Amino acid sequence: MSTHSSIAQLIADQPTGTTVHVAGWVRTFRNNQFIALSDGSCQKTLQVVVDRDNLSEDVLKRITTGAAVTASGELIESQGRGQTIELKATEVEVVGDSNPEKYLLQPKKHSMEFMREVAHLRPRTNTFGAVLRIRHGVSMAIHQFFDERGFFYLHSPIITASDAEGAGETFQVTTLPLNDVPKTDDGEVDFKEDFFGKATNLTVSGQLEGELGALALSKIYTFGPTFRAENSNTTRHLAEFWMIEPEIAFADLKDDMDLAEDMLKYVVKYVMDRFPDELEFLEKRLLDEEKNKPVNKRSPMPLREKMAFILANDFQRLTYTEAIDILRNSKPNKKKKFQFPIDAWGADLQSEHERYLVEKHFKKPVILTDYPAEIKAFYMRMNDDGKTVAAMDILFPGIGEIVGGSQREERLDILLDRMKAFDIHPEEMEWFLDTRRYGSCKHAGFGLGFERLVLFVTGMQNIRDVIPFPRYPGSAEF
Ligand code: 4AD
Ligand code: MG
Repeated sequence: MSTHSSIAQLIADQPTGTTVHVAGWVRTFRNNQFIALSDGSCQKTLQVVVDRDNLSEDVLKRITTGAAVTASGELIESQGRGQTIELKATEVEVVGDSNPEKYLLQPKKHSMEFMREVAHLRPRTNTFGAVLRIRHGVSMAIHQFFDERGFFYLHSPIITASDAEGAGETFQVTTLPLNDVPKTDDGEVDFKEDFFGKATNLTVSGQLEGELGALALSKIYTFGPTFRAENSNTTRHLAEFWMIEPEIAFADLKDDMDLAEDMLKYVVKYVMDRFPDELEFLEKRLLDEEKNKPVNKRSPMPLREKMAFILANDFQRLTYTEAIDILRNSKPNKKKKFQFPIDAWGADLQSEHERYLVEKHFKKPVILTDYPAEIKAFYMRMNDDGKTVAAMDILFPGIGEIVGGSQREERLDILLDRMKAFDIHPEEMEWFLDTRRYGSCKHAGFGLGFERLVLFVTGMQNIRDVIPFPRYPGSAEF
């Protein structure tokens, strides 16, 4: 095929008066003359004005929504409103027909639920095109952020024999025949017969391997898919999601929080700088959507204002214990409005509590630190009080927890005690413990839920709509 220009490039360069070739999909075909052509390279479509006199009736008929089309002609300043340039086409070819009766994406407003059913086609819509371009931008920004700061990208394995978070929510990986599983003498599944000679699962986190990398390269980050078989049918959970896990040697919890706050601000700024058209579109979309919601359920700020607000304000840092005091004395707690009332220290915080702190009390992002040891993972560093650990969670408006991290327990004896308390067998994790035996040092890291960050910077409402092909209970379509 002949070389063609992307619509993004044409809009950026505006080479009017020259002959250009374009290729894309028809969004609409108006008055048998104006094609709104999208090639997905940017938010805008290119208006292609067809020369009806030089096109056969047959070709005209085949220019329908969804068809793949190439066109050539002179790029001119647009006469019409809504665009600055248009293509005065002398040649138009339909290279891939659509079917106006059957094409699932008719040019009208569709519900998000319907879009999920046609996730194979939804990237062609304005909304999902914007989300996917921004999603790409967020990953580039993350790589760039860490690269600029001397972090190395470490590829942690997808298949593992450990459950880093110890929550027992793993997907098993096996080649054993499920209808004829080999058993040991005492009736247990004989994983020695399995592909890896032991029980394995899809990883829930790359952290443990990340620690191995950091205790050699000093600063690393992982960025890969993670899998959790938690049966959470919420707008914030996926069974397959992407996580970014930086890990830094010779660093403590404060360094960890500073890094996370810098990273989040860096990404938000990057998206604001690079995707003004997408953000304008998504902001308007969100405002339209919210018109149907009761006033108190609407987000208090339009999307771009909310993003600018993140950049302008320090995140509020406070301990879990301070947060419990605030929550205990809060109006919704006293009026029994929380589904899970807060009465005693030690309670795990639910998203209703997190959102109260962020959206009602502080009205900005919050970093909660020093949680009770019992409700956090085994690897977090025990504080001197003997009951809290050096953990930190970052809570975002409209999202809740977006980052979870901690300083790690670098002292071998204490780590062993903690593993015992969590019923984790040290002999299965000798490799991990070796870092504490040889050249152990203080270190810290965190995990950023990639899709939760994409949710925030797109203003989308459901995490299933910010990943191309979502996996959640009961659904692994496409
Ligand atoms: O808080 P989590 O479970 O922390 C860890 O996995 C640590 N190993 C991270 C570390 O210290 N290196 O998960 C980290 C983040 C959460 O804050 C949340 O944003 C996201 O991952 N997350 C999910 N996102 C989508 N769907 C799910 N089911 C998620 N579970 C966690
Ligand atoms: Mg967490």
